[in-house]
Amino acid sequence: MFHILVSDPLHEDGLAILRAAEDVTLSAPGKMARDEVLAAIPEAHALIVRSGTKADRELIEKGVNLRVIGRAGVGVDNVDLETATERGIIVMNAPEATTWAVAEHVFGLALALLRNVPQAHNSLAAGEWARKKYAGYQLRGRTLGIIGYGRIGQAIAHLGLAFGMEVIAYDPIRPPGRDPARPDVELVARLEDLLPRASIITLAATLTGESRSIINAQTIAQMQDGAWIVNAARGALIDEAALLDGLESGKLRGAALDVYAKEPPEGSPLIGRPDVIHTPHLAASTDEAQSLVAVYIAQQVLDALHGVDYKNVVNPAVLERH
Ligand SMILES: NC(=O)c1ccc[n+]([C@@H]2O[C@H](COP(=O)([O-])OP(=O)(O)OC[C@H]3O[C@@H](n4cnc5c(N)ncnc54)[C@H](O)[C@@H]3O)[C@@H](O)[C@H]2O)c1
Repeated sequence: MFHILVSDPLHEDGLAILRAAEDVTLSAPGKMARDEVLAAIPEAHALIVRSGTKADRELIEKGVNLRVIGRAGVGVDNVDLETATERGIIVMNAPEATTWAVAEHVFGLALALLRNVPQAHNSLAAGEWARKKYAGYQLRGRTLGIIGYGRIGQAIAHLGLAFGMEVIAYDPIRPPGRDPARPDVELVARLEDLLPRASIITLAATLTGESRSIINAQTIAQMQDGAWIVNAARGALIDEAALLDGLESGKLRGAALDVYAKEPPEGSPLIGRPDVIHTPHLAASTDEAQSLVAVYIAQQVLDALHGVDYKNVVNPAVLERH
């Protein structure tokens, strides 16, 4: 028998999979306090968390039976990977679950940005009827530049093509040329090849030392005059001071942001500007994505406990010992 502890609220669709497993006992009381998790962890063969539980050294070391930690989501910054790896504990996440939610939000933001939807909404709510003031722009026929062509970048490309856009993308691990899976997408060799061609630039790269501040004063200078930027990836991909300068100088026409260098972006001069629209890190927050995240992590954790499959392991070094 395996005991699985779920210490953060998890979508019912995932819990149902765990309950249905014959050789599993489940403890999933919802959001657990730290001392409750510490008390319950010695029994658990697997721990499933979202972002609320801090699976740090103290907690992992108390998990004397622990074999797997599943993060229902993408970021594993709340899990001490070093300690888990030292102790041979598999850590897995569920990165595919949110792909389409994020890609759709990118277009929600892009459409809202080009059509002034939030501004027009607020204006009408305030009793105005300002039809001329909020005339906008269309996506169709524009060139969309995607920085980072992984799961989300490719989903954005798919939707961009459906909107009748020309889609180009840059990713250092993808060779230039047509994407064999989507020949309408052109992969360019260098970021400099993308910047002057796209009127809408969106970020879909992982945050690394190299991609940090990939949008900065130099790269903004290479963009078209009047370009728009949409970011639902990670805030620190953009140098926010450079973005502000780009907007204030009129080089950039506008920006739509879901993510910020500091979250929440208290005191940021980007918030509340008429040429910036923003959401509070909502891109993955759909019922469908939360259900998928729970379903994927439940299945992956069961497969790992049963030794039948090890998917989305973020510390693969431990697998050599399994
Ligand atoms: N807003 C949200 O709620 C939300 C939700 C999920 C993911 N995200 C973010 O979206 C981004 C993409 O996620 P994904 O699942 O597609 O990841 P992924 O790993 O599938 O793809 C990321 C791609 O970025 C590329 N990349 C790395 N450095 C780059 C650089 N310097 N320039 C261009 N490309 C570079 C990688 O080669 C990779 O192909 C990540 O930053 C992720 O954290 C945000």
